[in-house]
Amino acid sequence: MAAKKQKAKTGKAATARNYGYFDDARKEYVLLNPATPIKWCNYVGTLDFGGIVDTTGGTVLCKGDPALNRITKYISQMPASDFKGSTVYICIREKDKSRILSPFVVPTCTIWDKWECRIGLSYTKWIVEGFGLRVKVTVFVPSKSRTLIQDITVENISNKAMEVDVVPVYEFSHFDALKQLTNADWVPQTMTLEAHKESSGHVILEQYAYMKKQYAVNYFTANKPADSFDGDRKAFLGLNEITGWACPYTLHKGKLTNSTALRGDNIAAQMFKFKLARKKSGRVVTQLGQEKSIDAAKSSIKKYRNLKNVDKAFAELTNFWNNYLNALQVATPDASFNSMVNIHNPRQCHTTKYWSRYLSLYQLGFGSDRGIGYRDSSQDLLGVMSHMPEEACLLAENLLSVQLEDGNAMHQYFPSTMEANEGDSREKEDHPKYYGDDHLWIVLTVASYLKETGNLKFLSKSIPFYNKKKDIKHREKGSVLEHLKRSLAFTWKDRGRHGIPHLGFADWNDTVNLPTGAESIFNASLFAKALLEMIDICEAIRDKKLVEQYKKWYEEIKIKVNKTAWDGQWYVRWFDEKGKALGSSKNKVNKIDSLGQSWPIISGIASPERAKIALKSVYNLLNTKNGIKLSWPGYKGFDPHVGGVSTYPPGAKENGGIFLHANPWVMIAETIVGNGDRAFQYYNQINPAARNNGRIDEFESEPYCYPQNILGNEHKQFGLGRNAWLSGTSSWTYQAATQYILGVKATIKGLSINPCVPKSWKEFSIKRKFRGSVYEISVKNPRGVSKGVKSIVIDGREIVGNVLPILPGKKHVVKIVMG
Ligand code: GLC
Repeated sequence: MAAKKQKAKTGKAATARNYGYFDDARKEYVLLNPATPIKWCNYVGTLDFGGIVDTTGGTVLCKGDPALNRITKYISQMPASDFKGSTVYICIREKDKSRILSPFVVPTCTIWDKWECRIGLSYTKWIVEGFGLRVKVTVFVPSKSRTLIQDITVENISNKAMEVDVVPVYEFSHFDALKQLTNADWVPQTMTLEAHKESSGHVILEQYAYMKKQYAVNYFTANKPADSFDGDRKAFLGLNEITGWACPYTLHKGKLTNSTALRGDNIAAQMFKFKLARKKSGRVVTQLGQEKSIDAAKSSIKKYRNLKNVDKAFAELTNFWNNYLNALQVATPDASFNSMVNIHNPRQCHTTKYWSRYLSLYQLGFGSDRGIGYRDSSQDLLGVMSHMPEEACLLAENLLSVQLEDGNAMHQYFPSTMEANEGDSREKEDHPKYYGDDHLWIVLTVASYLKETGNLKFLSKSIPFYNKKKDIKHREKGSVLEHLKRSLAFTWKDRGRHGIPHLGFADWNDTVNLPTGAESIFNASLFAKALLEMIDICEAIRDKKLVEQYKKWYEEIKIKVNKTAWDGQWYVRWFDEKGKALGSSKNKVNKIDSLGQSWPIISGIASPERAKIALKSVYNLLNTKNGIKLSWPGYKGFDPHVGGVSTYPPGAKENGGIFLHANPWVMIAETIVGNGDRAFQYYNQINPAARNNGRIDEFESEPYCYPQNILGNEHKQFGLGRNAWLSGTSSWTYQAATQYILGVKATIKGLSINPCVPKSWKEFSIKRKFRGSVYEISVKNPRGVSKGVKSIVIDGREIVGNVLPILPGKKHVVKIVMG
């Protein structure tokens, strides 16, 4: 099956080398080969309740917090073939033997005649055929619910009657996910599973860690009465577990043991028996949820035992996504650009919005060293602002509430407790205990919200500052505006010998940790960009005094950077504690860094001449066919002076790897200087969808989402993608594509239009929801320019300038001519 060519309905062929294809009409990626180079996955639900489902049926599920309230046990380091948190067994009963299969291939190693895994928007659907059966499994979390639905259909496609048992099974984790892995004494003593048999024959399995019983319980049930069940792993697998998940001995007996568990490894398995005549099918829908008690779960259980409600919930999910994606749809001459911008990139932005860097198959959400990242989430929100501004605003409020009174911010916080921490900076003596950039990102986020919605009242909302020593009631409060003012004031005061903002423990690049006193050109540029945003905001609220002050600060930073940081062909990136430059041509390693070029351009610090020279250096020294490297050359061994960056081999991650997050910043910079062809070349280089044809084995990572990094050309595995899904790449590539290449950007006064496209694009169109209306924008480019708007006609009337006014009415037709 794996190597076989399969012809899909859309007519596209998938071979083992490209694993699957994009079905844009259904907004799915269709995987035809389960043996992906590494584990590929999908997200279901949100951080409120949800998690990850991999393509071989493994599930990581949590409610509110993967570290402190985990539900299923998923050990991502295990080989793809192993059971990871969940599976479904299909047992075909024949006279003297039974056949045990799994639609996910794992853990039974079943080879089906046809195997298809449709990775959809917040759901995954498997459709498999073989052994006389067609099996369909769909997994999703209904919007706003706290239950994972698994909808299983078995259809007899053979020419004889069949007896089939369907046995879904989940394995539980202790709610403290790290303890589950580190404590094999206390954890198993507390894990408990009870069974409730209802008079109807339905079974509810109730699971909890003993000390949590009064607060929350997990439950597993179905729409059908169960023939039998198991809650204890040892009983379920049988033979003291020696035949393992691949071949549970008990399943061969045709009946589970009805075990509960007073301790040990808790699972939830139920057996459903089907007698299927030819062409007949059976359906069972399971629910795995968490509520305060089984009583509290009853209404949800009842709701999803009704199959009409299950179908309705699935349809609602589809509606949610259609509505979400409709915020911005494009049609350009480039098909994989359209596919990414219309479906997969905004979808990934939705994922990073909810999961920050907290739970992925790489960032495992164990213990107290992560949580929601301040800078990460501030940037993630920029990627969903046009789609869900009010939801974004709620998260921005949480972020503002972990900002300290002095204007700096805590680096991370735990969503379930709202307790914050200082990130890695806690751990290093003689280094600053704060990050130089965290508090500046939120200025961009709030500005983006205000520009999207026009809701300037938000600036007066009172939000507490974080103070660990005080309980929330006694913390100092300040308006949102006051929070932003303190952000800027913190950096203004915290500058070093060149007048450049201090690095702190780190800036955006987490891995360069220079001793106290170092300065960062990136922090200077981010500060300048934040000042520009604040100037816009203060002009909108007519605070002239602040406008003047911020203009003065901006000019001074601009002068300081240009005076001290220009290296001749590019800007340097840092000054260390002794004033020596890093990212300079004079160095042996780390001669040039991409952020040192993109950000002075994004912030308007670089003059047009310097911008062009710096971007030429990026192209010559940092660009590769797989993306732009963060820096060059890499450190060749551990250097305690710089720290983390030199722990990686050259070409990996921040040490000269293609750190994708930094690529869209160069795209944006190229659009600022008007080079649409180069911006688009950079866009294409890292578009994962464009690798789907035969280039996946080298890349390894999913073709439907951006990974965090690709190994650079100083590394032997050049081209290998790592750390899929949770990366700032998603938000910034989306912004680069929509706001800078297509050039549609929200401003306080309206929608600004300033495309910078490849010269070969003769026309394209954009549908954008904005302040209650839909703007249907079509752009013609008869003279084949990259940049420049010659005329704009809105609803038949020509306007002056390039900002579409906010007009009443549901729809506005906008015709633009470039030239
Ligand atoms: C990771 C971190 C992010 C940081 C980046 C570069 O993506 O989550 O906060 O900016 O690495 O070091």
